[in-house]
Amino acid sequence: MRTVIVTGGAGFIGTNFIRHLLEIRPQWRIVNLDALTYAGNAANLADVAARAPSRYRFVRGDIGDEALVRTLLAEETPWAVVNFAAESHVDRSIVGPLAFVETNVLGTARLLLACRRMWEEKGRPADFRFLHVSTDEVFGSLGPAGHFTETTAYDPSSPYSASKAASDHLVRAFQRTYGFPALVTNCSNNYGPFQFPEKLIPLMILNIIEEKELPVYGDGRNVRDWLYVIDHCEALAAVLERGRPGETYNIGGGAERANIDVVHQLCDLLDERLQRGAERSSRRLIRFVTDRPGHDRRYAIDAGKIQRELGWRPRYAFAQALAATVDWYLNHGPWVDSVRSGEYRKWIDRNYGAARDRADTHEID
Ligand code: NAD
Ligand code: DAU
Repeated sequence: MRTVIVTGGAGFIGTNFIRHLLEIRPQWRIVNLDALTYAGNAANLADVAARAPSRYRFVRGDIGDEALVRTLLAEETPWAVVNFAAESHVDRSIVGPLAFVETNVLGTARLLLACRRMWEEKGRPADFRFLHVSTDEVFGSLGPAGHFTETTAYDPSSPYSASKAASDHLVRAFQRTYGFPALVTNCSNNYGPFQFPEKLIPLMILNIIEEKELPVYGDGRNVRDWLYVIDHCEALAAVLERGRPGETYNIGGGAERANIDVVHQLCDLLDERLQRGAERSSRRLIRFVTDRPGHDRRYAIDAGKIQRELGWRPRYAFAQALAATVDWYLNHGPWVDSVRSGEYRKWIDRNYGAARDRADTHEID
């Protein structure tokens, strides 16, 4: 039996990854270390915890708490650590960057220190691995042509992407300096079940259902390269098991879409399901609002390396997986209600209220 420690497993991608790994590797055990910030929800995995208590353990804690992480590593002696834990929302990083430095930079550094210490104390086991889950946003913005490869220079635009870039550099430095067996993945925009509704796709789905305004930043022509979360999980499992330590792998869906086109598609999918006729088309709810400061224009991933080396390619087509995502949100009302706490409403007021029109980017506390 292999034990894998997953950090940030109560968030969007971590939840999907834990479910996926438990399913494809019945002999493995997962320990989920998560601080349960506003974005984390232990209930996402409550059914797993009830069904397979010997294969799943939840520990509430911060990746930056070195004493706690050291104790956990000593208790579990994991085969691998997969680091998802992060502050992940670009807009929040614009109004409150320090939390991003604390978790994404310092937290990752402390996690690395604790993991390296355990690895040294165990005699540097050859098959141990530390997989750091990162983002394509570290590469900055593309013009109308071209793709990010593993050798594209880092050029982050937001406090979020700068903090993720710093964490990637630290992970690589640990690999080069100490021989620590680390891998890094840089992935494009994910969508699918359990995504916190501050991100574009779930925010728009819920606003359409509730007939609220649909805030599209700038001219709506910014392009993202969308990947269904299950495809990302399959890529991460491939890198974890078969990737070469010291290497970086780009992961992307090859599904470039302008934001406004995604919003139109969501309006049409929901109008069909909610039987809204042309006269009540949800497209009437679209509002072009003040742009995100430093808004990257286009992301697009060249996933050739992971395809060639590990045989991974995305399995889900955008139209089908987007429809499945819409259906998931329609069928999970109680989950939606549970994550939209008072804190969530505070954020929505802060980001989409009067402060947005004043282009007010003063820090929030
Ligand atoms: P998320 O915000 O949904 O979840 C983050 C999780 O980390 C939450 O459960 C939160 O409680 C936990 N967490 C935050 N700070 C912590 C800390 N100090 N210690 C322990 N746990 C902490 O994020 P996500 O969208 O699931 O993204 C997961 C990872 O994947 C992030 O590192 C992100 O940068 C990366 N990523 C995300 C995307 C995407 O499209 N969502 C794409 C590429 C890479
Ligand atoms: O590229 C990978 C990244 O994708 C991840 O590293 C991040 O964690 C994840 O949040 C995501 O970042 P984005 O900034 O691209 O995602 P977001 O859903 O916030 O926005 C997607 C696009 O939609 C972006 O161009 C901004 C725009 N947008 C977003 C919101 C929330 C709007 O037009 N209106 C909105 O209300």
